Amino acid sequence: MEDRIVNGEADSGEWSFEQSLRPQNLFQYIGQDKVKANLQVFIEAAKMRQETLDHVLLYGPPGLGKTTLAAIIANEMGVNLRTTSGPAIERPGDLAAILSTLQPGDVLFIDEIHRIPRTVEEVLYPAMEDFCLDIVIGKGPSARSVRLDLPPFTLVGATTRAGSLTAPLRDRFGVLCRLEYYNEEQLKSIVMRTADILETELHDEAATELAKRSRGTPRIANRLLRRVRDFAQVRGTGVITFELAQYALELMQVDRLGLDHIDHKLLKGIIEKFRGGPVGIDTIAATIGEEAHTIEDVYEPYLLQIGFLQRTPRGRMVTHEVYKHFGMEVPVK
Ligand SMILES: Nc1ncnc2c1ncn2[C@@H]1O[C@H](COP(=O)(O)OP(=O)(O)OP(=O)(O)O)[C@@H](O)[C@H]1O
Ligand SMILES: [Mg+2]
Repeated sequence: MEDRIVNGEADSGEWSFEQSLRPQNLFQYIGQDKVKANLQVFIEAAKMRQETLDHVLLYGPPGLGKTTLAAIIANEMGVNLRTTSGPAIERPGDLAAILSTLQPGDVLFIDEIHRIPRTVEEVLYPAMEDFCLDIVIGKGPSARSVRLDLPPFTLVGATTRAGSLTAPLRDRFGVLCRLEYYNEEQLKSIVMRTADILETELHDEAATELAKRSRGTPRIANRLLRRVRDFAQVRGTGVITFELAQYALELMQVDRLGLDHIDHKLLKGIIEKFRGGPVGIDTIAATIGEEAHTIEDVYEPYLLQIGFLQRTPRGRMVTHEVYKHFGMEVPVK
């Protein structure tokens, strides 16, 4: 897959940058008002009863703030956060090792929870429900199962694909939070907050421009800001003015809706080779030289979200909006 500046997933070198920008509490966490309001009540209630917070599942597209929210939950509860991910827990023993070191009330964050192996998932059920572990010791005829008690803990699971979670696992979460794409105003607040932290002067209209081109995603907003700031430093006076932001975004080939050359290739491909569609996903994949599932998971969601692509039983179709966006004449069919 090609490197994209507008990719919602994190770059390999982005971790420490993001870490420094993470809001620490619900108050600093911008947007997601419904999720925040619910969590606030559940956290408060658990604290009043001196109980452990119920298990929480966070789901939604990459870069919307799931990892950030998991850390905030631990912070607001005043407990430790332990972080791992689905693919990192290969065997039941790996999970047991993590669980047995938790302090009462701790938050265990499992990122990409849809990727935990089946054998691990089965050990997770009693751990979530009864705070105990059933572990098989030994092999063959001498094998026996022992039950270990665990301290009560809160599991916070994150996934970009709630649909890939098995029903029994999903059912064991008491709190389900779906994160939504952010609107322009919220993204604007996010880049202004980031500019403050980076001690960079960011003009109001420049912040709006960045917000418009961030595909509803804070990670992309912060990344664009960081790159535009580089341009401001090298080519300008260090101040991010509207003109400078526009100039830099133009050079980075991020258009006014946050679409890049790959989106253009995909959309123009459908228009030029298939008269706007409908065309099957495998055919699109072959013409632009990408895997069908990459198109479905990475390229398509935002185009569907802004109403540029439509899914029909006979394949994908571009909408009139796309022709208008490219300044093309809308075809009469
Ligand atoms: N509501 C928010 N307010 C301010 N900043 C945010 C918010 N949500 C996310 N961010 C910022 O966006 C970046 C990405 O957030 P985060 O890593 O939590 O996303 P994620 O949903 O876990 O992504 P992934 O699915 O790739 O794991 C972080 O730098 C974070 O500071
Ligand atoms: Mg994350």
